[in-house]
Amino acid sequence: MAFTYISAGLLILVLLLTQGSILVKAKVPAVIVFGDSSVDTGNNNVIATVLKSNFHPYGRDFEGGRPTGRFCNGRVPPDFISEAFGLKPTIPAYLDPAYNISDFASGVCFASAGTGYDIVTSSVLNVIPLLKELEYFQDYQNKLRAYVGEAKAKEIVTEALYLVSLGTNDFLENYYIFPQRRAHLSPTQFQDFLIGLAENFLRKLYNLGARKFSLTGLPPMGCLPLERTTNFPGHHDCVEEYNNVALEFNGKLSSLAIKLNRELPGIRILDAEAFKIFDQIIRKPDAYGKFYLSFLESTNGSSFLCVHHFLFDKLKLFLDFLKMFSTTIKSTHIYI
Ligand SMILES: *[C@@H]1O[C@H](CO)[C@@H](O)[C@H](O)[C@H]1NC(C)=O
Ligand SMILES: *[C@@H]1O[C@H](CO)[C@@H](O)[C@H](O)[C@H]1NC(C)=O
Repeated sequence: MAFTYISAGLLILVLLLTQGSILVKAKVPAVIVFGDSSVDTGNNNVIATVLKSNFHPYGRDFEGGRPTGRFCNGRVPPDFISEAFGLKPTIPAYLDPAYNISDFASGVCFASAGTGYDIVTSSVLNVIPLLKELEYFQDYQNKLRAYVGEAKAKEIVTEALYLVSLGTNDFLENYYIFPQRRAHLSPTQFQDFLIGLAENFLRKLYNLGARKFSLTGLPPMGCLPLERTTNFPGHHDCVEEYNNVALEFNGKLSSLAIKLNRELPGIRILDAEAFKIFDQIIRKPDAYGKFYLSFLESTNGSSFLCVHHFLFDKLKLFLDFLKMFSTTIKSTHIYI
């Protein structure tokens, strides 16, 4: 099962448009994160689940070589994005007792590895359901109001960037493993079911004041280390069926983003679909250096570390490049 897997869409650089121009740093007072292991910065450390990453080699490239609960060798995409907006270089996990509202005011992570849009997914390993992440967000807002006052709290909530990254577990940890959903829903129906849940979630966040979203689609999930390792009939090649499902799902997620952008006043959802870049790296590893070798050699989840490491280096370069951008960019997508 794909308990630990590479992060996906957040490697896309996040750009939001404000009246046709790139959002400038100062316009994002906080980065607020919802999702799964692609973006969890340590919440699972403190809940009763076996799905944790608070041991080596996780964190080996993190400051102090410390495993923090990030499913990664170092920082995860939201950390880099936060830094790129001139905020903290790492985003604290909401449940981490080492932090409080004074830290969370400029960025907070509610994500939980192993979760999904479907409540059945989060129950598999007893992790935080997506709607519970939303409850934490409400709790956070109360604390924020008490800490910075009504007006400032409202400003932070409205202007913050909301990163939403999940969905892989719904397929690889739920649909394709257990019959509960598969017995009643075809892959297409299950996708539509998830899209409905995604819409519900985004509308709830919107009603709680969120406006700027980066919505991450699925990676080529058939190429994740565990899926390849267990693909014995396919000689450890990528599982194309899973990749096709991911592409289909991403298409539907894009349509949802377009629909909500039209419908909800003031909302800006960026479709941060990352399938392409991962697919390119997987198919043409030579063009991206040696990291993929370790990726292939992995026998359990931990070897995806190298993938992270490589891509984040690339992302950092790209961020530097972006600083030179003028404010006249019209595109809503930038792929790295
Ligand atoms: C947050 O934690 C810091 C350091 O532990 C402490 O000094 C501060 O008073 C706390 N702030 C709040 C609002 O609890
Ligand atoms: C799997 O990951 C664990 C966790 O770090 C590691 O200690 C172990 O050596 C890995 N197992 C294999 C077979 O690579």
